[in-house]
This record gives sequence, C-alpha cells and structure tokens, in this order.
Amino acid sequence: MYSDLHPVTYYFYPLLQGDYAPGSHQGLLDAILDTEVPKPAESLLYIHIPYCHDLCQFCPFHIKIANGEDVYARYTDSLCKEMELLARRPAIAQRTFSAVYFGGGSPSILPVPQVRKLLESIHRCFKLAPDAELSFEGEPRTLSNPELLELLKAWKVSRLSFGLQTYDEVQRQRFRIVATLKDVERVTENARRLGFHDINVDMMYDLPGQNITRLNDDLAALRAADFDSVDYYNLHYYAFPKKFRAAMDTGEIPPKPGVDMHMAMNEHIRWRMRELGYNAVADQVFSKHGKVCEYFRLLWGGGDGDHAAETVAVGSSARGYLQGVSYMNTGEVNTYTNLVGQGVLPVAKLSGALARPENRGAVFMPKFFRIAKRHQAAIDSIPADVWQAWQEWGLIYETPDTWELSETGKQWTTNMMLDAFDATQRQAAGVSLNALEKKPGVRTGTF
Ligand SMILES: C[S@@+](CC[C@H](N)C(=O)[O-])C[C@H]1O[C@@H](n2cnc3c(N)ncnc32)[C@H](O)[C@@H]1O
Ligand code: SF4
Repeated sequence: MYSDLHPVTYYFYPLLQGDYAPGSHQGLLDAILDTEVPKPAESLLYIHIPYCHDLCQFCPFHIKIANGEDVYARYTDSLCKEMELLARRPAIAQRTFSAVYFGGGSPSILPVPQVRKLLESIHRCFKLAPDAELSFEGEPRTLSNPELLELLKAWKVSRLSFGLQTYDEVQRQRFRIVATLKDVERVTENARRLGFHDINVDMMYDLPGQNITRLNDDLAALRAADFDSVDYYNLHYYAFPKKFRAAMDTGEIPPKPGVDMHMAMNEHIRWRMRELGYNAVADQVFSKHGKVCEYFRLLWGGGDGDHAAETVAVGSSARGYLQGVSYMNTGEVNTYTNLVGQGVLPVAKLSGALARPENRGAVFMPKFFRIAKRHQAAIDSIPADVWQAWQEWGLIYETPDTWELSETGKQWTTNMMLDAFDATQRQAAGVSLNALEKKPGVRTGTF
C-alpha cells in the first residue's frame, strides 16, 4: 500500500517534454491544425491572463506583476490576434465550444474595456454552444467591480471563481495575500446582487502548522458564506521562495503538516463538506449543484474514462490539448506578442503522442473518482499489476457499470494517477520531479 503521497497534482496529460524555440516546430502544429476533423471532439476554449497585482508567496503560476493600461491593452490585442490566427485553421473552425474559461493569474485585473474586447473577439472568432458554460476567474478585489460584473453578466458569463484560500488572518499575512476578507465579502455580495448563481472559491489546506481545529474554523466560515462550489486544494510547497523555506527550517514559520495530518484533514474536509451540503463531485472539487463544472470535465478529457475532449489554449503560457498532443504557449510575454504579431502561433512546448490515446482517460480516472466499464480500452491501458494492487488495497471497487474509488482511494489520487501513466510518461514525470527537487522555488505554471 502507498505510504508517501506523490507531491504533484497533474492537470495535463500527456506531459510536456523538452523546450523548443517558440514557433520552431510549426510543422507539427500545422499538421494538427490543418487536419479537417469530420466530428470534432467536445471542446474547451481556455484564455490565459498571466497578470496579478501582487504575488502570493505560495503561487507556482507564471505570474507577471504589471501596472499600466498599456501593458494590458497590448496583451489584449495579442490575445485577439492569436484567436484570429487560430480561427482560420480547419481543425478549429469546425468546432463548437462547450465551455470558455478565463484563467490566470487574475483576469479580473484587466480594465473593463479590454475584457469587453476579448468577449467580442471570442464570439467573432469561435462558435459557442447555446448553453456553453462561460467562467471568469479573478482575485476578490478587482472581481468585485460592479462594472466588470455587469459586463460579464451581459455576455452570459455564468460562473465566477476566486481565491479565498483561508479565513486565518495569520496565514493570510504570512503568504502576503493582499485581498482582504472584506474584499471576499464585497465580491460575493456584488456578484449575488447582480444575479450570479454559480460562485466558486479556491480554498487551501495543509497550511504550515495547520491542524484539524484550525481547519474546522475555515469550514465553519465556509458554511456561513454558502458558496455554490469550492475547490479545496492541498498546499504544494515547491514554489515557495528561499526565504520562506529558510524561515520554516528555523521554526520562525511552523512546518508543513506531515502525511498523517494531511490524510486526516483530507478525510475531514470530505466528511464535513458533505454535512454542509456539498457533493465531492471530483478530486478536490465540492459542489452544491451536484456536478463538476464543464471547465474541469473538458480539461480532464470528458469524464468517467473518456479521453477525447480537447482544449484550445490562447495566451502566454496557456496550455492546450489537440489530437493527442499537449502543448504550451511561450511564457515570455514579449516573445508571445512578437510571434503573434508576425502571424506565428507561439507554441513553446509539446508532448509526445501516447502509444494508446485511451491512457489519458485512465490517468484522469482518479479525478472523477470513477471509470465507466464502457471505456475498457482505458482500463486495459493501466498496468495489470497496478489494477490488481488497487483492488487488493481497497482503493477501487466494482459496480454494474463502473469502477469507483473507495474513500481510501480518494486519499491517494495523485499516486493513482502516476501509476496509471504509460512507461514513457512515467519517465517524463520522474525527470520533472527530479528537476523540482533540485531547484526548489521554481515556478512551473501548475501545482
Ligand atoms: C490561478 S489561481 C487563481 C485565483 C486568483 N488569482 C486568486 O488568487 O484569487 C488558482 C488557485 O490555485 C491555488 N494555488 C495557488 N498556489 C498553490 C499551491 N502552491 N498549492 C496549492 N494550490 C495553490 C489557489 O487556491 C489559487 O486560488
Ligand atoms: S494565487 Fe492568485 S492572486 Fe495570488 S499570485 Fe497566484 S494567481 Fe495571483
């Protein structure tokens, strides 16, 4: 049975491998984008805004601090240009998007006219399903702007998401979270007043020195706030700045909770959230609406063992998945702007293609807590000894139509994902984990 928690949470699969000079492998991308697909897969459009006003100490994302309307105006123009470049390509032009996600960073820090420009551009360039889910992420201070919220409402953005992280003021100060709990109240009030009924917050546990009592304080405050859904992440420590780590070593900042405390808190959250009326609809995702949002469903292949759903990525350091290949745009905003200006798609990293594409559905099985038996090819892509061990350890059990994760299985999702990787991907995961361990403080763009 597993004893150590695998420290990385995977959001993308197959993994990106190697660095390329941005734009240098246009050939492979052209082949993908110029292939007419008779029946395009379900699709997510992801728009990335890599800017924040401040840098929270724990954050591993490729965030830039920019103040100044010029920077945002230039970046918005590049996003619109990239959308136009993509929209012309046969593989993109034919598809209808089921969901659009504005992520970051903090998209809410864009000036309102720039957000309007982006929404106009999305509708001009792409076909959206009539019931498409449009989500907008932000940080509480800027997302509370009624003018922005009204614009989003008018353009049928129905889902809002922001980072709350914790109600514990000591932790908030420690991590230099600049938005206050008053800002959290304000954004919630304004959004509800304007008729938003799908408000998500990000919470974090496994905070330095945290125990069940402190966790319970956060859960009690969440009960009062009554959000529609909560993403409850365990804090990853690899992006922490050197100074922060040193303070943990000297005891000035309390240590990371051990694996036993992690497990106790993980179980406690699932039990307590159920009592508060939330269903655990996916790994770390709790919802009062009873289902996982379209954004996560599509990002992770489609759900229940499906691997086909695709993501079209727009923006500097945005990640996508098309025709069996994951890719990432360059994280250098200037390079991004220049390439897009020259009409070149700004892709900087690619993955290899999987020998068995169904393996993507298997790897994302722990995210959805289940795999449908109709996806037998995905199940078969998991090494037989791993599948057998999962049964022996009580991590999975069978129902007439599905294999489900048990409550114990739900505690080991990151280990299970890694064990479902095919051999080449497992090797790639080892290489990137090694790099992380050798270079603490590195910002990988994901956690
Ligand atoms: C891209 S951020 C967007 C939220 C928004 N910028 C804000 O902070 O209000 C997504 C979420 O990732 C989570 N996150 C950031 N750093 C993390 C870490 N080191 N470990 C676990 N979760 C983390 C936080 O909960 C954060 O809200
Ligand atoms: S947690 Fe959110 S606000 Fe803080 S640095 Fe990361 S993306 Fe920006």
